[in-house]
Amino acid sequence: MKSRYETAKNVFVDSVDLQDYIELDSSVRAYEQLEHSINKPLKMILLFGRPGTGKSILLNRLQNKLKHQREIHYFDTPAMNEKEFFHKIFKILTKKSLPQNTEVNFSALVNYCKDLRGKREIVIILDEAQMYSVELMEKIRLLSDSRTVKFIVSLHKTEDEDLVAKEHFQSRIWEVIELKNATLNDQMAYIHKKLLKHNLFELANSIKEKDMRLIHKFTKGNFRECNKMMFTIFEICEYYDKNEPGKINYDKIPKRVIEMAALKLGYIHV
Ligand SMILES: Nc1ncnc2c1ncn2[C@@H]1O[C@H](COP(=O)(O)OP(=O)(O)O)[C@@H](O)[C@H]1O
Ligand SMILES: [Mg+2]
Repeated sequence: MKSRYETAKNVFVDSVDLQDYIELDSSVRAYEQLEHSINKPLKMILLFGRPGTGKSILLNRLQNKLKHQREIHYFDTPAMNEKEFFHKIFKILTKKSLPQNTEVNFSALVNYCKDLRGKREIVIILDEAQMYSVELMEKIRLLSDSRTVKFIVSLHKTEDEDLVAKEHFQSRIWEVIELKNATLNDQMAYIHKKLLKHNLFELANSIKEKDMRLIHKFTKGNFRECNKMMFTIFEICEYYDKNEPGKINYDKIPKRVIEMAALKLGYIHV
């Protein structure tokens, strides 16, 4: 029989799947801000936050919720090159595909956008935008000037770089929304709700508030780190359950197991 720890472990495999979306205080707030910004006469919206703070899942949610009301497109990873990028934009605007070997004429595309002004309003979400070149970002900005296309640009924030302080993002065309690591309460809700969604009630109850504090301390509330930590905790539990069942029971997670997981993931050192 499949161990219930194995099921629990797999609940925390890192993926962006809308079925798994959970309403948390922070995600609801950021979602509302995003939706509000889309309805303002802005050209560019910047969503930024450290990797693993939930940007991609939030953007997927936005696209999914709004797709029946408006023209909204999601670009998950940056195109291989500019040509491919403009082919995609061309297709969205004209609803026609260009032959592979042709280049999109950029100024014609800008004019096309200008002609559409007031007739269509298109939202394009660019995830992982730190990978777009400066030149391409400048062209994207020029397209947004037409006010036919509005871009939501999602960027990773790095430890040492305060992006928003950059002059570029200070300009009036930008609205900035930041996603932060989860608070203890949000992270607790995240862990519980994920387990409950998979009917793992007993295991959800086995993680007590003090365990949650410890997990939050190690992962700093980052969702991706939290997934890794929970996966590893349940992996260790699964091992004991199979090999030394006397060392584990379903009502609580031994502190030792949380520490072993932290050790394995390098949060603590011996
Ligand atoms: N509100 C949420 N509901 C469910 N899962 C979430 C939520 N926020 C983050 N996650 C999960 O956390 C992990 C990291 O989120 P992701 O959107 O990939 O972050 P980012 O794009 O900022 O790096 C993913 O596994 C994602 O499914
Ligand atoms: Mg992402």
